[in-house]
Amino acid sequence: MNKKTVLIVGGAGFIGSHVNKLLHQSGYHTIVYDNLSSGKKEAVIGGVCIVGDMGDEKALNKLFSSYPIDAVMHFAGCIDVEGSVKHPQRHYTNNVSNTLVLLDVMRKYSVESLIFSSTAAIYGTPQEDRIKEDHPKNPINPYGRSKLMVETILKDFSLAYGLKYISLRYFNAAGGDPEGVLKDYKDRDDHIIPMILRNIRAGKEEITVFGTDYLSRDGTCVRDYIHVMDLAEAHLIALKKLFNEERSKVYNLGTGKGITVREVIEATEKVTGKKISVINGKRRTGDPVCLVADGSLAEKELDWRPKYFLEEMINDAWKALN
Ligand SMILES: NC(=O)c1ccc[n+]([C@@H]2O[C@H](COP(=O)([O-])OP(=O)(O)OC[C@H]3O[C@@H](n4cnc5c(N)ncnc54)[C@H](O)[C@@H]3O)[C@@H](O)[C@H]2O)c1
Repeated sequence: MNKKTVLIVGGAGFIGSHVNKLLHQSGYHTIVYDNLSSGKKEAVIGGVCIVGDMGDEKALNKLFSSYPIDAVMHFAGCIDVEGSVKHPQRHYTNNVSNTLVLLDVMRKYSVESLIFSSTAAIYGTPQEDRIKEDHPKNPINPYGRSKLMVETILKDFSLAYGLKYISLRYFNAAGGDPEGVLKDYKDRDDHIIPMILRNIRAGKEEITVFGTDYLSRDGTCVRDYIHVMDLAEAHLIALKKLFNEERSKVYNLGTGKGITVREVIEATEKVTGKKISVINGKRRTGDPVCLVADGSLAEKELDWRPKYFLEEMINDAWKALN
């Protein structure tokens, strides 16, 4: 039985809470540390839950001196792209400055293993149909830039201080707990699938599509949707790799399948049995037309393959809302 202790910063949020549940079920001791700015305590199934801020050095010192932490998973951050354009100060402070506080305390307590939640947004406008990890990094919004800054910091910390990290660049996380235990606790969500499902639940069977004049097969944005349980599984594998290997690594996590917003709407109609009317909205600032992963590196080195398809993601997200 594995009894390593993992600190999950931001573990009360959407992805972190699914990872916490899986790690706990897999025999790890977990400590969730979250300021509950968007996460919820009810989402912490298993392990210890401590409310606190990643930028609070004193609280982190107390945490690291109280528990024998073997590794840290870092999910905490401001994640809305449009909000980052309007409020870059908030995004840079939380995503970059507060991460530096966490890294500093990890160093002080000689905790060297980190898994970081990065994003496809660091690539910016794709130059290829399928994005590989070595694709140029030209993020087009402060959110993506803040994540790229952290990746740069991790690289430098790895060289200078021996930090060992795996940065996982998620594409569009979706879905929910297939066991139906974890619910969707968010008050609001800018992601397309929960947005449509929330509208349906409220009896408002319509959705505004932001941009219908893109150069894609139906005019709407193309994204690579990945089930949150596939992400959780990848974290579990990455954690084992981190404990057994010396080198830091970066992996894309996506399915490699590009799906348009209209296709998401059609699949949602199929899952819920509801007809959805589309309102043609304006493009959102900072949205690239197409973001699809080449996930071959994670497949090869982590032996990880996504197991869930779009309709299962929508079905599990629907279950989490009801
Ligand atoms: N959801 C996606 O599609 C997606 C895609 C790519 C990358 N990511 C990254 O994955 C991570 C998790 O995303 P999510 O969808 O679960 O978001 P989320 O908002 O549900 O989770 C983030 C969690 O971090 C907590 N948090 C934020 N700032 C904090 C701070 N200063 N101190 C302590 N806790 C803090 C929040 O309360 C929340 O529980 C984020 O870093 C995000 O940038 C998400």
